[in-house]
Amino acid sequence: MDVFESVLGDLAGGRVLNVATKEGGFVQILMESLKDYTEIVGIDINDRAIERARDILGQEDVRFLVMNAEQLDFEDKSFDTVSISASLHHLSDIQRVLEEMKRILKPGGHFIAAEMHQDGQTEAELTSVYLHQWVAEVDSALGRLHNSTLARQELTDYIASLGLSNVEFHDYIDRDSDPMEKARIEQLKGLIERVIQRAEGASNYSEFKERGEELRKRLLEVGTQREPILIVIGEK
Ligand SMILES: C[S@@+](CC[C@H](N)C(=O)[O-])C[C@H]1O[C@@H](n2cnc3c(N)ncnc32)[C@H](O)[C@@H]1O
Repeated sequence: MDVFESVLGDLAGGRVLNVATKEGGFVQILMESLKDYTEIVGIDINDRAIERARDILGQEDVRFLVMNAEQLDFEDKSFDTVSISASLHHLSDIQRVLEEMKRILKPGGHFIAAEMHQDGQTEAELTSVYLHQWVAEVDSALGRLHNSTLARQELTDYIASLGLSNVEFHDYIDRDSDPMEKARIEQLKGLIERVIQRAEGASNYSEFKERGEELRKRLLEVGTQREPILIVIGEK
């Protein structure tokens, strides 16, 4: 069984919000994994991403809105479930967004967060962690908001600050996939190539290029496995 199905499969979602939804990748997971839901609303600050999300997933009970997560345009206690995935390290004010999500959550409602983190254990996992850090640094040098992924402890500290109850932590760790899987290696080689090209616009291009080449060497030597993901579910 898929990890999200096993973690979310017994949860009746009710009215669900997904924050920083981009093209709705996590909305799709919620649609497939929750026991049921009455409505899912995805919000993102990027209007082009929201247009694509509408094209891909929009339907009567799945809606997408352009909105800043730091100032959610919803009443207090108006959702049964709130969620955020793979996005905390893309926010300029994580605490403010988490507090906003809690504000609009009904008492007894569920708070779901899924986020990759830095604490890889195997060399293959660390390849993904280092790659993501390098991409984040290139993006930042180009003026795009992309911080380094957080440490697992930082994630649990943010969650603790919300004072939720019945909090469950699920570590989603990739230990079974083949680190040298050809298709994945080729995919990441392509990514490295594209990011090196993207870095041409940065003032320290040669340093970024050198690090990209070191990462490609590492990828071919030790391979790769997915970054570890922490999934958190708590109640307000
Ligand atoms: C990595 S993407 C999200 C991926 C998506 N959640 C998924 O699981 O497929 C990060 C998103 O955060 C959005 N974002 C950053 N700051 C935001 C804010 N203040 N309010 C809303 N969305 C924001 C970006 O526009 C971007 O689409």
